[in-house]
Amino acid sequence: MQGFCKRWALLLLPLATLAEAVQSSELAARQSIPSPAVIAHRGASFDAPESTAAAYLLARDLGADYLELDLQRSKDGVLVAVHDDTLQRTSDVAQRFPERKDSPVSAFTVAELKSLDAGSWFNQAHPERAREGFKGLQILTLDEIMDIAEGHPDKRPGLYIETKEPTFSPGIEADLKARLRARGWLDKPGRVVLQSFDRNSLTLLHQHMPQVPKVLLLWIGKGYIEPASGQSFAESGERDKAAFYARQQPKDNAEFERWLDYAKDAGAIGTGPSATRTAGGSQSYADLVQPWMNKLSHDKGLLVHVYTVDETVDFAKVMAAGVDGIFTNRSAQLLRYLSRPPALNEAQILTASGY
Ligand code: G3P
Ligand code: CA
Repeated sequence: MQGFCKRWALLLLPLATLAEAVQSSELAARQSIPSPAVIAHRGASFDAPESTAAAYLLARDLGADYLELDLQRSKDGVLVAVHDDTLQRTSDVAQRFPERKDSPVSAFTVAELKSLDAGSWFNQAHPERAREGFKGLQILTLDEIMDIAEGHPDKRPGLYIETKEPTFSPGIEADLKARLRARGWLDKPGRVVLQSFDRNSLTLLHQHMPQVPKVLLLWIGKGYIEPASGQSFAESGERDKAAFYARQQPKDNAEFERWLDYAKDAGAIGTGPSATRTAGGSQSYADLVQPWMNKLSHDKGLLVHVYTVDETVDFAKVMAAGVDGIFTNRSAQLLRYLSRPPALNEAQILTASGY
């Protein structure tokens, strides 16, 4: 059904765009990556606390293609999924370990991380989506997320794994390979995609797992794509970060192209550029998925998976611009947009899962 809908949609495109769409579909097929790919950003993190079992079970049962996670390593060497470099935003670390509340994730043992409540913050931040069952949810290990991905009779999402703060955890790339190999995940083409903003980490991932598809995440700013304006947010006079990011452009086309070449040099099969959201907000960044950027990426043999888009107006915009996959906090919305509606809605699945 998915392929049928996509083929009909292709017939409505202008010829040049059609050629590009066919080209990128072939790129994705070569890597056994679905196209367009639905990538559940930190799980179904609009409806459940990010990176917890509730968010990943929901994303899996909705039918997302990949469960996205930010990989870090505990003090005693266990791989865990946490986005921020500290635990304050998404746990009760300030109550449990007040003297270490600003310490990095890597300063805590896995037992300490597991003792945190990684769910209640969501109920306070989003009372309209709060659920009793979210209280006390734990930080997950990579193995537990693999268990979730393998735990449904029909739905078998892949994992889209980002090495986060890799400089805090030297050797995390080799550790990741060891866990994926131990669980048989390296034998399944397209089942794992590896991602990083850190070119060095991506290169290490490529050395350890040359056969696994990799994506270089793109960002405008110091140490990344050089912006046209050297102004900082504070100097810009913009009202919020989203408005500031929305104005950011690469210094010139050659600078953007340079980063595509860096991606290829590091062994990537694609890039993960940021998007500007129509409604703004804390996950609205520079628009790095302009049609010329995607065309250039495809011409270089690179797929484009954009982060992080949640609304129909933005799904339409980035798809029209030519992306091959979308990181989203709202997998259900994206699946509906792509004519792959889930059989049950978000609330029904969460309730059925006991949350
Ligand atoms: O990994 C894609 C996207 O998640 C990158 O941004 O900060 O949400 O990890 P972030
Ligand atoms: Ca991420």
